Amino acid sequence: MTHLLVTGGAGFIGANFVRYVVAQHPEVQVTVLDKLTYAGNRANLTGLPADRVRLVVGDIADAPLVNQLVAHTDAVVNYAAESHNDRSLRDADPFIQTNIVGTYTLLQACRRFDVRYHQISTDEVYGDLPLRQNGVGAKFTPTSRYQPSSPYSASKASADLLVQAWVRSFGLRATISNCSNNYGPYQYIEKFIPRQITNILSGRRPKLYGNGANVRDWIHVTDHARAVWEILTRGQIGATYLVGANGEHSNRDVLALILQLMGQPADAFDWVKDRPGHDVRYAIDASRLRDELGWRPEVTDFAAGLRQTIAWYQDHPEWWQGAKATVEAAYRQNGQ
Ligand code: NAD
Ligand code: DAU
Repeated sequence: MTHLLVTGGAGFIGANFVRYVVAQHPEVQVTVLDKLTYAGNRANLTGLPADRVRLVVGDIADAPLVNQLVAHTDAVVNYAAESHNDRSLRDADPFIQTNIVGTYTLLQACRRFDVRYHQISTDEVYGDLPLRQNGVGAKFTPTSRYQPSSPYSASKASADLLVQAWVRSFGLRATISNCSNNYGPYQYIEKFIPRQITNILSGRRPKLYGNGANVRDWIHVTDHARAVWEILTRGQIGATYLVGANGEHSNRDVLALILQLMGQPADAFDWVKDRPGHDVRYAIDASRLRDELGWRPEVTDFAAGLRQTIAWYQDHPEWWQGAKATVEAAYRQNGQ
């Protein structure tokens, strides 16, 4: 596998994957196909060697362009998506177009040129889980029922089902990974952790939805990148791998830690309107990934990962300041 097409490679998780591949696998050439939506940013690929990474600005739903690129690649890793739940509640159109029609377009091209395909998906396709009772709680597994809650997660679930059908009916050499919430550098500032960090850095108060009890299962983005590489190169064709690092924390606890690490009083935040249909809890059972492929997370100290993430946003104001007012204005309009 020496030539990869990484779609959505100028976004948060895609760019971290491209950086991982360039650093760890010197034989690989990467073409990034990215539409550079509001969430995509050329700067996410800054500093990477031009003879190893090429950015093509375009749409994964553009079949002629996709065919042309897929014809000259060994594998496609599809990170391209509309990725934010709150936006999908305001306007689902781009989610249907990119996440479903775009995935279909990539699948058709991979089928035509017999190219290996990996779909980056989310734990949200499984809906949510109840809060733990006395420390005990269920986790998602690869056989959990699909039960998405938001237009975003429904569009990702649809894409997964397309991939499964293309494997079964057309023999496509494909895998799927469903990962939990990522954090780390280059995450767009509409998302929970970077929103709170950049709120504090810009003199705004952090915002907590609902009662703050909702739980997310946090994984550092570099651990996700390594998992995807293992699945891409050694995973079983047709299999689904869940990716998670046993990182369950309530939103309230995450915000408390951010406030503490940034030297703020514990009550220096606002409660805001809850998200409609807000998923209660996510938790991943990553046994298949651990047992079959020997993957283990490396960033196991959440406070340390968060401290490093805060430092990245402190050190890169030019990366986020330009978008801050617009992102906050959209939230304000929504009462959040
Ligand atoms: P992101 O919004 O930061 O980046 C998405 C990228 O896709 C952007 O660069 C954007 O320009 C590009 N894109 C959007 N529409 C496109 C189109 N039609 N054609 C080409 N490029 C297009 O998202 P992210 O958080 O990096 O998520 C990447 C993938 O990982 C998504 O598929 C998402 O569903 C999945 N995922 C995310 C998380 C998370 O915690 N963020 C967890 C699990 C899975
Ligand atoms: O689980 C994987 C998913 O994680 C990915 O598929 C999505 O692409 C990604 O965006 C993320 O979805 P969430 O909805 O969990 O992430 P978000 O950062 O939007 O919110 C995390 C939690 O924090 C959620 O319970 C809502 C809450 N929240 C969010 C924001 C932006 C707040 O309390 N305040 C906020 O300001």
